Amino acid sequence: MAKKSSSPNLSRRDFTKIVMSFLGSIMGAMVGVPIIGYVISPALKATEIDDWVSLGALDSYPIGSPKLFSFTRTKVNGWEQTTNSYGVFVVRKSESALNVYSNVCTHLSCRVNWNEEVAAYTCPCHDAQFGLNGEVLYGPPPRPMDEYEYTIEDGNILIHLTEA
Ligand code: FES
Repeated sequence: MAKKSSSPNLSRRDFTKIVMSFLGSIMGAMVGVPIIGYVISPALKATEIDDWVSLGALDSYPIGSPKLFSFTRTKVNGWEQTTNSYGVFVVRKSESALNVYSNVCTHLSCRVNWNEEVAAYTCPCHDAQFGLNGEVLYGPPPRPMDEYEYTIEDGNILIHLTEA
């Protein structure tokens, strides 16, 4: 016949084990949670790009003819760092009026080039053409070239670059 515990009270040894286990769990959590947070936190960080990019002196751009400006920006997404290159065409209309267009084709994102002979931006991928003001002249692009907001400070052109 099995012997049942006759005492409902905890022994001193059992009580000490329970208290030590409880304290050990708390201490483990105090050490473990910050370590887990440190390891996982980079995966939860994603930077957005919301920046004003200098394109240099306004006077370095000729009036009436598009000029390409290229730059790079690095984006952090978790443990991954991506450096993207950007190209913009500055079209200076007068001493102070200008437009800044992305050189990314609005069809499938190939890079367009200014072609002086046909006076248009041409896309090498599907032969699209955009006019001086970014309008679609020919080909499959669904919309005009994307345009950047800009400002001029102390004679320098700055464009507003945003990216989620
Ligand atoms: S990507 Fe430019 S026309 Fe298709």
